[in-house]
Amino acid sequence: MYAVGIILKEIREETGVPLQEVQQNVGIDLTQLSRIENGKRLPTIEQIQRLAQFYNFDDTKLLIQRESDKIVSTLEYPEVAIEALKVAEDKIAYGSKYLSLFQDVIYQKPIALESRRYIGSKAKLSDWIMDLIETETENVQTFTDIFAGTATISARALSKYKKVIVNDFLYANNIIYKAFFGAGNWNKNKVSSIITSYNSLDPEALSENYFSENFGGKFYEYSVSKLIGHIRQDIEDMKYELTEKEYSILLATLIYNIDKLANTVGHFDAYIKKPIKPQPLRMRMIDAKDFENVEIHKEDANLLARNIKSDLVYIDPPYNSRQYCRFYHLYETLIKWDKPKLHGVALKPEPENMSAYCTVKARSRFEDLVRNLNTRYLVVSYNNTYNSKSNSSENKIRLEEIEEILNRCGDTKTFECSHRFFNTGKTEFNDHKELLFITKVDEARKNKSFPTLLCWG
Ligand SMILES: C[S@@+](CC[C@H](N)C(=O)[O-])C[C@H]1O[C@@H](n2cnc3c(N)ncnc32)[C@H](O)[C@@H]1O
Repeated sequence: MYAVGIILKEIREETGVPLQEVQQNVGIDLTQLSRIENGKRLPTIEQIQRLAQFYNFDDTKLLIQRESDKIVSTLEYPEVAIEALKVAEDKIAYGSKYLSLFQDVIYQKPIALESRRYIGSKAKLSDWIMDLIETETENVQTFTDIFAGTATISARALSKYKKVIVNDFLYANNIIYKAFFGAGNWNKNKVSSIITSYNSLDPEALSENYFSENFGGKFYEYSVSKLIGHIRQDIEDMKYELTEKEYSILLATLIYNIDKLANTVGHFDAYIKKPIKPQPLRMRMIDAKDFENVEIHKEDANLLARNIKSDLVYIDPPYNSRQYCRFYHLYETLIKWDKPKLHGVALKPEPENMSAYCTVKARSRFEDLVRNLNTRYLVVSYNNTYNSKSNSSENKIRLEEIEEILNRCGDTKTFECSHRFFNTGKTEFNDHKELLFITKVDEARKNKSFPTLLCWG
């Protein structure tokens, strides 16, 4: 039964025109006309246009009815029809890009920890780093990733070592660790149905919010930013009906899904000043696991160093003036959700968690860190970006300084691996090298070479 025919019959009866008169004026066979009006035959586009003209009726409305009749008549599996129509809607709106954007949604694959864009992420180097650690160290039970960033190294350590301490002072990173690794109760069906409900939100029906007012049309397309703000507020409003693990999974899921839609080159120091192409926000859950052997901290590394005991500490601090809290300020604002006043073109909050490692104090902080760590092995990542022409990517600690400080702690081996790394185009490093130092701490040597208490600064 085609609805468009029934509508056509109603229009004709309303105007009081007999069928024969329609036939004479539009030139459609009488039997065909009657089958159309009985909903047994679908009129062609041309027939609709002729009939609409004759009745002086809006042909678009009739064509919409015809197209939907046609779609509905081809559906073969009614149980998934509504969902299929929603997907079809996205395919029409976003064209061929749809498939590449949503392949993972279709296959329901959870989002992996490594799939985040983060400057200095060791995701591509993790095999190299972990293999070296494995061959160069003995009897490691506790592993600490003290500047964890994306925690890609912690994730590898979790499957290998008895206990893993993960630390970073950024709010968003801390929520991500709790979500991906943290122990705690959570109900997968509950979290998954909340995410599904977010996926059926219509941004048009949502009102303006803190996120869309500040970031809409800048870091995110306007309707996506309305969704982000609405979802973030909803998670906060539900907080007391969620366990800490569920709350963290929902927030980390939000970050990981919006990461791909950001109108940036990978961080939030600036946005691309071109109109943003609309893209739908279809969220899929992160690959949340719960480990009993993880300890998660959100502390300044130098303070934490005084309070932990670990067999091995992996150290990967920032080495240049680029502050992570400024690069990822939008996620900090989103996670803290205290809706601060934002400043400047990049809409940053007041500075918080500025790292001394990005300043002239870097060397003394590094010295203070290794001096206070109670550990048998120090493993330090270092990239040789200090030859740079750009000031912001100039290293705050020189290679020789790291080597000298580590040698004061014990015998140090240096390993080298070339790789491509982050730069914004201003800096050219064809000879960029990634180095890894592994120091076997010699307590006697260390105590002798750090005799007095070092002051920060
Ligand atoms: C080079 S990144 C680490 C990258 C990480 N290894 C990875 O694979 O993603 C440095 C990290 O140190 C954090 N950080 C900087 N200064 C810190 C401090 N004083 N205490 C704790 N974390 C700090 C930053 O937030 C950033 O995430």
